[in-house]
Amino acid sequence: MIIVKTISELQTARSGLPTPVGLVPTMGFLHAGHLSLVEQARAECKSVVVSIFVNPTQFAPTEDLESYPRDIDRDLALIETAGADLVWMPTPDIMYPPDFQTWVTVDAVTQPLEGAQRLEHFRGVTTIVAKLFNGVQPSKAYFGQKDAQQAVVIQQMAHDLNFQIEIEICPIIRESDGLALSSRNSYLNSDQRQAALILSQTLMTAKSAYESGESDAEAFRQLMLKTIATEPLAKCQYVSIADHLTLNELESVDQDGLFSMAVYIGKTRLIDNYLLRNGTWQTGRRLPQGFEKS
Ligand code: PAJ
Repeated sequence: MIIVKTISELQTARSGLPTPVGLVPTMGFLHAGHLSLVEQARAECKSVVVSIFVNPTQFAPTEDLESYPRDIDRDLALIETAGADLVWMPTPDIMYPPDFQTWVTVDAVTQPLEGAQRLEHFRGVTTIVAKLFNGVQPSKAYFGQKDAQQAVVIQQMAHDLNFQIEIEICPIIRESDGLALSSRNSYLNSDQRQAALILSQTLMTAKSAYESGESDAEAFRQLMLKTIATEPLAKCQYVSIADHLTLNELESVDQDGLFSMAVYIGKTRLIDNYLLRNGTWQTGRRLPQGFEKS
């Protein structure tokens, strides 16, 4: 496995890779969710590139850039086992030299949900992902449904900017009890880890209500808020029942909808979602018991 930092090292290594090339962009501190993307890329592409870069421009000054968990040695070992060919781990000054002044912004779909809470977050995401795309020039790029809005935003950007890259969105990987894997789960103490189950439990409650015939979006929102309120350690930031393409809030749910939420457990902000497509729920995949401790 080749490990590179600079753009010129990347270009040299990239030119020797058999095509098609698949790219998995990450911010490191890898877990089975990230590795599922690498596996998918491995299955579909001749070469797999993983990028590790904790992108400063997608964190607000009040957010956790400094404390964001990092463990490069562990990450590299996991990536090698997963069978990637090349790891690109640039430094902030390589991606954002002092004279940097070009940004990629996507309009409507970045406005609600995460975008409403985390101003400028998506400007940072789309700018870095565009730079990763340009650097690696993959045929396919792999993202997780865990970050549902990010997936929509990146698909929109790739479409609008004519990137000749197929964007693949892979299922949410969950622990055996339902908690969606996240690098930020490492912030939770054991009581908070237990309390964090309220996110997936709330989504399950909404799914059951749909299956019992509920279709009023506001009734779903109220049910979700009420469920989250049963957990004393949880503080809800938003619940949403939105159109899965435009991300506009729905009035009623028929065959499609993105059910999502952001909830604080203590100081840790967690997100989760279930996607309803053509009447079928995409809830993600649970790991076998004992597979991963967060
Ligand atoms: P990061 O949070 O490291 O996530 C990297 C990729 O892993 C994203 O596509 C994310 O959706 C996916 N992922 C995270 N948890 C997952 C889970 N439980 N199941 C499946 N996939 C999961 O997302 C980012 O980094 C950054 O914003 C990035 C795209 C790298 C740009 O900086």
